[in-house]
Amino acid sequence: MLALKPWDIEFVRSQFPALNKGKYSETAFFENAGGTYVPHQVIKKLDEYLVSTKVQPYGVYASSHEGTQNIELATVKMAEMINADEDEVVIGHCTTMNLYMLAMSLRKMFKQGDDIIVSEQDHESNISPWLRLQEFGVTVKFWPIDPITGRLSLEQLECLLSAKTRLVCVTHSSNVVGDVNPIKKIADVVHKNDSLLLVDGVSYAPHHAIDVKALGVDIYVLSLYKLFGPHLGLMYVKRILHDQLENQYFSQLPALYQQYQKPGSPNYLRISLNPGLVNHEEVVSLLGLVEYFNALYQHHFSANKCCFFEKVKAVMALSVRYETTLSECWLNWLAKQKNLTLIGNNDNDVNQRSPTFSLKINHPSLLPKEVAKLLADKNIAVQSGSFYAWRCLNALKIGDDGLLRVSFAHFNNLDEVHRLCNALDEILI
Ligand SMILES: Cc1ncc(COP(=O)(O)O)c(C=O)c1O
Repeated sequence: MLALKPWDIEFVRSQFPALNKGKYSETAFFENAGGTYVPHQVIKKLDEYLVSTKVQPYGVYASSHEGTQNIELATVKMAEMINADEDEVVIGHCTTMNLYMLAMSLRKMFKQGDDIIVSEQDHESNISPWLRLQEFGVTVKFWPIDPITGRLSLEQLECLLSAKTRLVCVTHSSNVVGDVNPIKKIADVVHKNDSLLLVDGVSYAPHHAIDVKALGVDIYVLSLYKLFGPHLGLMYVKRILHDQLENQYFSQLPALYQQYQKPGSPNYLRISLNPGLVNHEEVVSLLGLVEYFNALYQHHFSANKCCFFEKVKAVMALSVRYETTLSECWLNWLAKQKNLTLIGNNDNDVNQRSPTFSLKINHPSLLPKEVAKLLADKNIAVQSGSFYAWRCLNALKIGDDGLLRVSFAHFNNLDEVHRLCNALDEILI
């Protein structure tokens, strides 16, 4: 599946109204790790749903029927996107909510004295739900990071694993450190111990195709709003676990849903881990995300009949290569800066780090939030703070002022990166 042409950044940018006719189209946007812009296909599907099918789904009349079909199809496509089966995914409000629901629904799987291991590198959304289970007798152990590099080591994990460990929770790529963790190797170690592996792919998924089967994970979560979609989260839970999941919806649902309320029944996850269900128009707008990836594929590759997952894989392989050109320019500039220290490794290798760069500011009088504000005055959007990964920042001995974070998406261009470097040159003198 050779690409016909390199990543066509002009074509890609033309897909995003925010970059063209949006009120802030002149802004160089580098807060993608907090949520990306959306392509026009997503906006169109959202609009179409609201205009034509915004009625209660699962009814017998035409608009309801069409809306329902689109909700179902979007869910199937999101499963296909990560190489999962359709009954193994749930689309929830966001990753935090998906993990909270999962922890509650898995509660009875844990016995008094069982262990859960969580990583210190993780966003709090993959820590707090598991800490809540302590009140039911579960012990939560922290997999520490190296206090200088911010890295996790497999040896440390091996020391923590025991016969009591039921679950290990770790990020695929930290939203602060940026390192990519070797998930397949971690899965092998965790499974050898007869434990389950839950991976937070929120920071990794905007840059790589996700193949949950090849990764060998038991649970995988990502946030669709950081992957060019609306504000929703996608969670994969391997089918063999479904029997363990306790329904979180009403104890009794209308007949229509009752078929989904028996653990292990088809589509059990979508209903039982999603009390009240999620915003229907946003779910349907995910069909626009499918159209976006199809358009990228068609533009860059000779049209052939490969499935949606293969298309996403091809597109992401091309876009991540393009992102390294942005990272190279940025890392070369960064290497010369005395006032900025990069957290994590400075390898421009997509298998080692994501293009999410957190920086310590060593300037005598400027704090991260002040640098972010001065950049905003120059029409450059970045963010500062702890990014809900305060345990990681504490371990790195970074105080309350936090870090400055710059994150790229595949619609950023070199011109914007130069603008960022030039602006920082002026600010940090
Ligand atoms: C690495 C990581 N995990 C989890 C989350 C939580 O995602 P959500 O906002 O969808 O709850 C975030 C959000 O910033 C994140 O960056």
